[in-house]
Amino acid sequence: MILVFGSINVDLVARVTTIAGPGMTVLARSYERHFGGKGANQAVAAARLSAPGTVVMAACVGGDAFGRDSIENLGRNGVSAELVRICDTATGCAFIAVDAKAENAITVASGANGVLSAGDVPDTMLGSGTVLVLQMEVPFQASLDVARRTRKAGGRVIWNCAPVPPAMTRDEATALLEASDILVVNEHEARDIAMILSVCGDDMAQLAKGSATTCIVTAGARGAFAYTADGQVCEASAPAIVPVDTTGAGDTFVGSIAVALHEGRVLGDALRFGCRAAALSCLSAGAQDGMPVRDAVGAV
Ligand code: RIB
Repeated sequence: MILVFGSINVDLVARVTTIAGPGMTVLARSYERHFGGKGANQAVAAARLSAPGTVVMAACVGGDAFGRDSIENLGRNGVSAELVRICDTATGCAFIAVDAKAENAITVASGANGVLSAGDVPDTMLGSGTVLVLQMEVPFQASLDVARRTRKAGGRVIWNCAPVPPAMTRDEATALLEASDILVVNEHEARDIAMILSVCGDDMAQLAKGSATTCIVTAGARGAFAYTADGQVCEASAPAIVPVDTTGAGDTFVGSIAVALHEGRVLGDALRFGCRAAALSCLSAGAQDGMPVRDAVGAV
């Protein structure tokens, strides 16, 4: 089973020529509503690429229309929502500006994501076949608890450290690495984590060796790089595309890596699979709309 413990948001997306800086106002013709949240995106990406019944999501939404629609959306995409709890807080909402180059800026109002707890995942859901997928949009200690319990049960953990909290401590970053089999970050996040851990520059090779965790860095159009604890470096290029919207590309990559790991594939194959899927996801607007099905990506 692939278990995603993470966030569910509804994304309100405005297309702008240039993303507003501090103190600026920019106008967009209209806005679109899409399903999002890094957790839900990763769950949907994984479900579209794997056999029915493989992916379960643990999350919290409000008892509002956004929450109801989001649960339905998971079901439509083959994600089991049996561990999605409805609570008294409003469903998470992300405000996204996408510019003319398909780059984005995102502000998330966490809402119900902030009350997800480790107790939302019973031990009976964790075993040696579990691949747990985590991000950083729900309470950190809850994620850490589920990660440790998954490892204790013989399962594996993929932790996408996105976004890196501005107040993340050295102890938290160390605990995250120790509880993970695979860390996935983009180049900005790699620099932030390296700074927190006083690793020289963004030297993920050093980080991987010191932590016994495989560190994967996604680099957009340049593909992805993986550094293993025993000093191997693995690289995959990204197919050339003209992106419409890059929102959710990183999530598609993480979901694909989870599928490859769950199927027992080697790291290089997982990276190539993830890069192909992530590129395809950029060809439609919205985080989830462009996420490919297995036939579109090809073999792992
Ligand atoms: O990674 C993209 C996601 O980040 C969006 O869907 C938004 O909800 C934010 O969580």
